[in-house]
Amino acid sequence: MTKSCLTGEVPFKVGGIVEPPYFVGRAEDLAELSRDLRGLAQNRLILAPRRFGKSSLLHNLRLSVQTERDLLVPYVNCRDVASYADFHRATVSALLAEIERTRPVSGLVKRYAEVFKGRLTRALERLEEIGGAIGETGRVYLKFRDRTLDERELVRDTFRFFRALAEEKRVKIVFMLDEFQEVTAFDVYMFNLLKKELDLPSQVRYFFSGSSMRLIGRIFLHEEAPLYLMVSRHFMGPLREDVVATFVQERLARANLKIKPTAARRIHDQTGGIPFYVQKLGAILVQRSLLDGTSEISVAHVERASRAMNDELDSEFEVRWLHRFSPLQRRIVHGLASLGQARVTELAAHIEAKPTDISSSLSRLREMMVIAQEEDGSYVLVDIVFARWLREA
Ligand SMILES: Nc1ncnc2c1ncn2[C@@H]1O[C@H](COP(=O)(O)OP(=O)(O)OP(=O)(O)O)[C@@H](O)[C@H]1O
Ligand SMILES: [Mg+2]
Repeated sequence: MTKSCLTGEVPFKVGGIVEPPYFVGRAEDLAELSRDLRGLAQNRLILAPRRFGKSSLLHNLRLSVQTERDLLVPYVNCRDVASYADFHRATVSALLAEIERTRPVSGLVKRYAEVFKGRLTRALERLEEIGGAIGETGRVYLKFRDRTLDERELVRDTFRFFRALAEEKRVKIVFMLDEFQEVTAFDVYMFNLLKKELDLPSQVRYFFSGSSMRLIGRIFLHEEAPLYLMVSRHFMGPLREDVVATFVQERLARANLKIKPTAARRIHDQTGGIPFYVQKLGAILVQRSLLDGTSEISVAHVERASRAMNDELDSEFEVRWLHRFSPLQRRIVHGLASLGQARVTELAAHIEAKPTDISSSLSRLREMMVIAQEEDGSYVLVDIVFARWLREA
């Protein structure tokens, strides 16, 4: 990554969770969600396509309530959860880390680690020292390790533990379950348990986040889904044009670069305001300007950098193109890329299909958050960088 000459600070950060000054906009999302967090108002489902900044939003949401000692916000990435036991270990560890962060207990997570993988006698000693609800759940886990208790009993106890701990420590707990579409380990039994938990009046709440409406839909949104109507949805859009323009201007200034207002706005157009692309395009612009000795970035520079970005993303887009879509979905996506925006009839005519033949694929693609429907009913591709790549490929 290119370092700025003045401050030694990297001008843009591409990939991974970001904090200010790399995290911008999202003021309304943060205000609304942190109100719900503090008030334990409701369970939430945060939805956005890939790379819109969900994980970063969750992270900054946690930062925004960091000073509240009585609010624990454990974060779990569900990508790492492949079994009920994983769920137990991941949630309990995250919760203990939160206790350690907010209370004067040191080494809790480390001491507790004995329960997961240490010798039994040592583990029991540690649990004796720790005591309370944590000691109790640790002993339950040891029974599971011992195979005198099955996974279902373990996971039932896990939920009981959350409630017991909230009561014992007089705290509110809001779990952030990121990438929830990845919870392959969950089945009807688990969803029923979760449903019961969401229904219970308690000091424990859940914020789910995900990027595939199709998978998430099966869990939350269809009428027959196990958690139907149990959560309130929150959609994240792209970053606004003014937010993007101010951001790139400020970050480029860190690298001693100026940008024309029209060029700053062009960055928004070229990226659709999708945060990941904004940062990537910014990083490319800095690199190229240093190489060329440019000091003020123009629209032409932005356009050249966009082409370079497309080239860099080429293999990733190719994999997406080949593996993510069915043949009919590919025709639809390609058709939409060349039309830009189209109603069903227009799109069907363009790809030489009947509207009725493509309607279920269209709703599938919508659930995958690959396409979106505009107010007038027409369809567009969400990822406009990918769309440009398709047009040019
Ligand atoms: N609010 C923001 N302001 C500026 N850049 C951002 C913001 N949010 C995210 N980004 C940029 O987008 C990248 C991806 O962000 P993040 O990992 O939070 O997205 P995500 O939606 O969780 O992605 P994925 O779907 O891959 O899990 C970050 O590394 C950063 O470059
Ligand atoms: Mg993420």
